[in-house]
Amino acid sequence: MKIVAGNSNQPLAELIAAYCNLPLTNAIIRRFSDQEVFVEIRENVRGEDMFLIQPTSFPANDNLMELLVTLDALRRASAKRVTAVVPYFGYARQDRKPGPRTPISAKLVANLITSAGADRVLTLDLHAGQIQGFFDIPVDNLISAPVMENDIRERFSNDNIIVVSPDVGGVVRARAIAKRIDADLAIVDKRREQAGVSEVMNIIGDVRDRRCILVDDIIDSAGTVCNAASALQEAGATSVVGYVTHGVLSGGAVARVASSSLEQLVITDSIQATQPVRLAQNIRVLSIATLIAEAMRRISEESSVSSLFN
Ligand code: R5P
Repeated sequence: MKIVAGNSNQPLAELIAAYCNLPLTNAIIRRFSDQEVFVEIRENVRGEDMFLIQPTSFPANDNLMELLVTLDALRRASAKRVTAVVPYFGYARQDRKPGPRTPISAKLVANLITSAGADRVLTLDLHAGQIQGFFDIPVDNLISAPVMENDIRERFSNDNIIVVSPDVGGVVRARAIAKRIDADLAIVDKRREQAGVSEVMNIIGDVRDRRCILVDDIIDSAGTVCNAASALQEAGATSVVGYVTHGVLSGGAVARVASSSLEQLVITDSIQATQPVRLAQNIRVLSIATLIAEAMRRISEESSVSSLFN
């Protein structure tokens, strides 16, 4: 196997390559002066099992285009098989038509990745598991739950914890974590009145005098998690810790987290942390590099990936 790193998360690619005990493939991925993407794979990859690591995080369109152009380069270089390793799959939230005359962008992106030359996809905590079905090639959708479970057990296991989903849509994800750590589950019934603005309505379950572990897949504007944290504290929670896989954290999200009632926000490195994220006092980053690297190794050796979920 060989590993190519796109530009969107070089530190993660380096950690994965180190775990696999492999150097990163010599490749140039840069921009022309008009910002078109140019790729040159500078070593022979003919007949190789290639893994291209490129989450499609901010700037989403540039990183997506870089993924597509690099896939094309690898296919034309006669790689035996190309796996698109997309730890954060952008556009996933547009997975159905919320109204008339709107796109299903997640399906469009799946088509683009396939057409560009991916033979398989390796991703993490897809916003909706059904997005796997948007592809007609194999998709391994890893879960960060084992990594989060270990962290929660290490830090909070004796803390009278309760796992909370910040909205009804996230119940399955939160319940999976609750089951792993043998904790109770509560749900914040959120109603979103306007796109980009979230409003907490109701809490299902008793969180009084409990330490709440708020679980979500994406934190973008941070409205969902911060509003849920306030509502939980109003309902008597002693403290609230957020565990969210993908730290999109756009706009003023880091400042919102810093001034929120969250004791701590824990995210993964599926998206490269920006400087404000690195400096934030109440944000901590857990690495999923080992999980992804181990899945890549198993794909290459054609052994079971699902046993990683146990
Ligand atoms: C929604 O369905 C997702 O699971 C997240 O809850 C949402 O994307 C978070 O967005 P924000 O941080 O902007 O509230």
